[in-house]
Amino acid sequence: MPTNEELIAELEAKEAKIKEMGGPESVKKQHALNKLTVRERIDLLLDPNTFEETGMHVKHHCHYFGLDKIDIPADGVVTGFGKVNGRTVCCYAEDFTSRGGSLGEMHAWKIARTMDLAAKMRVPIIGMLDTGGARIQEGINALDGYGQIFHRNTLYSGIIPQITLSMGPCAGGAVYSPALTDWILMVKGSSYMYVTGPDVVKAVMSEEVTHEGLGGSMVHNVKSGVAHFVYNSDTECIEACKELLGYLPQSVYDKLDATYKKPADSPDRICPELDTIVPEDPRKVYDMKTVIKAIVDDSEFLEPHKHYAPNMIVCFARLNGHVVGIIANQPSYVAGVLDINASDKAARFVRFCDAFNIPLLTLVDVPGYMPGTHQEFGGVIRHGAKLLSAYSEATVPKITICTHKAYGGSQISMCSRSIGADIYLAWPTAQLAVMGAEGAAAIIFRREIAKAPDPKTKLQEMTELYRKTFNNPYVAAASGFIDKIIRARDSRREVITALESLLNKKEERPWKKHGNIPL
Ligand code: HXC
Repeated sequence: MPTNEELIAELEAKEAKIKEMGGPESVKKQHALNKLTVRERIDLLLDPNTFEETGMHVKHHCHYFGLDKIDIPADGVVTGFGKVNGRTVCCYAEDFTSRGGSLGEMHAWKIARTMDLAAKMRVPIIGMLDTGGARIQEGINALDGYGQIFHRNTLYSGIIPQITLSMGPCAGGAVYSPALTDWILMVKGSSYMYVTGPDVVKAVMSEEVTHEGLGGSMVHNVKSGVAHFVYNSDTECIEACKELLGYLPQSVYDKLDATYKKPADSPDRICPELDTIVPEDPRKVYDMKTVIKAIVDDSEFLEPHKHYAPNMIVCFARLNGHVVGIIANQPSYVAGVLDINASDKAARFVRFCDAFNIPLLTLVDVPGYMPGTHQEFGGVIRHGAKLLSAYSEATVPKITICTHKAYGGSQISMCSRSIGADIYLAWPTAQLAVMGAEGAAAIIFRREIAKAPDPKTKLQEMTELYRKTFNNPYVAAASGFIDKIIRARDSRREVITALESLLNKKEERPWKKHGNIPL
């Protein structure tokens, strides 16, 4: 019989062996690629000495292609729970040094079990992915593993925040779990995501493309919108994940108290610079981020999708300490027009915030929907409908400020009174109208303009008439669509007053199994 001491020594030897991961050569290769190992990543993510590892001794059951002779430490994925800034999270990190972090049956089982644990604990789950995808030797069992994970991603969506850090290859099945999570963070140069890699693309499409060109971090942050954030290194990426967690509740059941942060700023601070930010010359533009910085606590905000659809801004910030989600048109990029990508981006953000009880502040300066065959063929009707649906469904406090233009259908989409704004504020520069004055005049006074001796002057005259009548906040305010016309300088104080008055808002929706959102 072994002594207790020998048993402890055996355990320690096993643990030490597993912690060597794929061995010194593989670890060296990992570092040479500017990537940290799984264990270094977890150490950076979690508060010191808080990581509780689960399933360290799990082994694969596969005996095909000689795999039964091969030991894969921790089956290529480190799982467990710990604390980030004192708040519990569950996490898993795939170990590329151990058989390319490939996902087999037990590897998947460990991830699924960690997800179940996170849902029971009611805490966020963070996945750090670095994997060649389904472990090819394990065949259908590996595919089932992915299915188990996708199923849980979906079941736990809206219950606990789910965050993916893509920190290496994410190939094949490894892309769909991230796509089902709330947030994807990527690392420049080392992470890439694609369903089929460059070799398959070449064989099937005769198209030559690199890993980076096909699924690199900028492809997904700029073009596809699959990813929400991009960083220069693993360290930056992990730090950013912690910052993001600071804005999120632990679960749908959690109060937002833990996200409260006392500001250095006064809630009554006036923002005189906002009084003149909307240019008097309609050909000039302004940066809506200046408005956001002026209004929020200490000018701090965290912006997902910074590089994607920049005509729409979405960000997390705080108002007198309370977390809010901000959705804002960006007039300095294609006039802040609503298009397919901007609608998708904003709608998904609204749905995330509503799911986790984060109040919404909407800043409106929108000239309309982007016209053209490209948009119509791409389904701007379907995608635009997502934003209407998201705001209409949202029951969190919804405050809107119209700074300038709010024309036509896009006026309705940007959290108008009609689709449920609780408090709708407008600056004196606001223009709530069916369309721009010139376009409107050209349509409704078509006959008069055509008959006039000088049609150009007549058009100008009628445009001016339309502008005076509708391009102001007073017609909308007269019909009750605006609660208050405020001085721009008072915006911070006004939204904080509205928000704090709405914090206990309760709004019910009729019971249904689920709606059919326009996907
Ligand atoms: C088994 C794998 C693997 C995999 C990598 N490895 N991917 N083992 N299954 N999917 C192993 C390699 O054999 C190698 O083992 C080690 O991991 C390191 O891989 P390398 O190729 O040497 O690394 P690198 O040169 O950096 O290339 C990384 C890579 C490449 C581009 C990701 O490994 C690759 O192309 N892998 C396959 C990607 C893929 O096609 N995945 C799709 C699987 S099917 P040794 O023994 O040499 O250390 C799938 C479908 C699911 O996921 C669909 C669900 C919807």
